[in-house]
Amino acid sequence: MTNDIDTMNKIVSFAKRRGFVFPSSEIYGGFGAVYDFGPYGTELAKNIREFWWKKMVQENDNIVGLDSSIFMSPKVWEASGHVGGFSDPLSECKQCHTRVRVDHLLEDIGVFADEKMTEGEINELLLENKEKLRCPKCGSSNFSEAKSFNLLVQSNLGNFTSDWNKEPTYLRGETCQGIYVNFKNVLDSTRVKVPFGIAQIGKAFRNEITARQFIFRKREFEQMEMQMFVHPDDAMDTYEKWREKRWQYYLEMGIKEENLKWHEHENLVFYAKAAWDIEYKFPFGFKELEGIHARGDYDLTQHAKYSGKKLEYRNPQTGEVFVPHVVETSVGLDRTFLAVLTDAYVEEKLEDGKSRTVLKLPANLAPIKIAVFPLMKNKPELVAKAREVFDELKMKYMCEFDDNGNVGKRYRRQDEIGTPYCITIDFDTLETGVVTVRDRDTMEQEKVNIKELPSYFRDIFDK
Ligand code: GAP
Repeated sequence: MTNDIDTMNKIVSFAKRRGFVFPSSEIYGGFGAVYDFGPYGTELAKNIREFWWKKMVQENDNIVGLDSSIFMSPKVWEASGHVGGFSDPLSECKQCHTRVRVDHLLEDIGVFADEKMTEGEINELLLENKEKLRCPKCGSSNFSEAKSFNLLVQSNLGNFTSDWNKEPTYLRGETCQGIYVNFKNVLDSTRVKVPFGIAQIGKAFRNEITARQFIFRKREFEQMEMQMFVHPDDAMDTYEKWREKRWQYYLEMGIKEENLKWHEHENLVFYAKAAWDIEYKFPFGFKELEGIHARGDYDLTQHAKYSGKKLEYRNPQTGEVFVPHVVETSVGLDRTFLAVLTDAYVEEKLEDGKSRTVLKLPANLAPIKIAVFPLMKNKPELVAKAREVFDELKMKYMCEFDDNGNVGKRYRRQDEIGTPYCITIDFDTLETGVVTVRDRDTMEQEKVNIKELPSYFRDIFDK
C-alpha cells in the first residue's frame, strides 16, 4: 500500500464506515484528538490487549500484572518530573490564532528540535526558520514566541470546596508511574525476586497541543507498559534481550518486517542509559510505535526521595541491598491498532475484474472469527440450521450471523472487517450435514461436516 495522504484518508473513512473508530461526541461536532472504538474496533482492541498480555505476562513467569488507578497522589507527578518538565513548545499563529507545536512545525521542514532544548533555543530556531514555517490552517508565517506547555491533564477531583485541597490532581500522563509506586507492594505480596517485571495496560491522558494523524496522537489513549526491575549490573543485558523480544513480538503479531525499523534516541534524558524506538511505517511515514528504555534507578530513587519510603531490594541469597534499575517497554494500544489496521488493509483486484477490500488480519486479532450464513433468508429450515451452527460456535468464538443480501455481498462485508472464515448453510447441508467453509485470503471453499466444525476451528484458532 502506498504511504500517502490518500491512504490515510481511506483508512480513516474505512475505520468509521465499518465501525472500527468513531470521532468522539461526533453529533456535537467532535472533540479534538479524542476517539471512540466502535463495535469491531472494540473487539480488535481487546484482541491486541490479550495478545500483549499473553506475550508479556502469561509467557514470562517473572512478570506479574497490575491495574493501578488513573488518579494518584499529585506527589507522584512531582517526583516523576512531570509537573516540572513534561511539556511541549507551543506557539500561536498571529493571523488565525491556531495553536501549533513548534517542534512539529520545524520537523515538517526537516529541522530537528530536541526535547531538551530550552524555550530560548526553540525560539532561536523559530526565528531562523520563520520564512519557511507555515500555519497549517491559514498559511501565515507569523507566529508568537514559543512557550513551554505542560501536557499533564488537571482535574478537580476532591476539590469540593474552594479552600480545601488546593493542590491540583492529575489524570495520569503515563501508566508506568502506577507500577513504580507499587514496586514494594508487589515485592511484599508475591513471590517475585529480582529480576522481575510488572506489566499494566491502561488509560493515559496528555494535553497534546495539536490533534493530528487520527488515533496516532490522542489526548486520551491507552498504554501497554512493562517495567523490569533488575540488578544494576544486569541492566544492559536485560535491555538488549527485551529489544530483541519486542521486535519478535511484532513479527509474531503478523506485522510485515519491512514496515518496522529501529530508531535510536540521539539525545538521552540525563538518567537514561539507552533508548530505542520501534517505528512503524504509518501512511504519514515511519513514526514511533514503541519505546524501549533503560531508565537506570531514576524512578525508584525519585519516589523514595519524595515519599520517604525505602524502595530497595535485598537479595535473599547474598544479602546485598540495592536499588533495582528499570528496563521499560512502552507501547500505545491505539498506535498498535493503527499499525495493525494499516498493515492489514488491502485493496485487491480479482480475476473477474472486480475488486475487494480485505483486512488480512491474523486470525487471533480478527474482530469476528467466523460468520455464519443461511443461503437464503426466506427459507426457515436453512435459517434454523444456520442458527443452530451459529449458536454452537458462538460459545467459543466471536461469530456473526448474516442473512442479508446475496452470499457474494456477505463475503465482501466479512472480508472488509477481516473475518477469516465464513460458513454457508445450503440445501445440501439439510440432507448431508455438510457446510461450505470459505477462507478469507484464498477465497477457496471447502466442505466440512457440522460435527467436525469444532475440531476444524480448534486446529486453526488454538495454534
Ligand atoms: N513511560 C514511557 C512513556 O510514556 P512515551 O514515549 O511518552 O513514553 C510511550 O509513550 C508510548 O505511548 C509511545 O511509544 C506511543 O505508542 C504511546 N503514546 C504516547 N503518547 C501518545 C498519544 N498522545 N496518543 C497515542 N499514543 C501515545
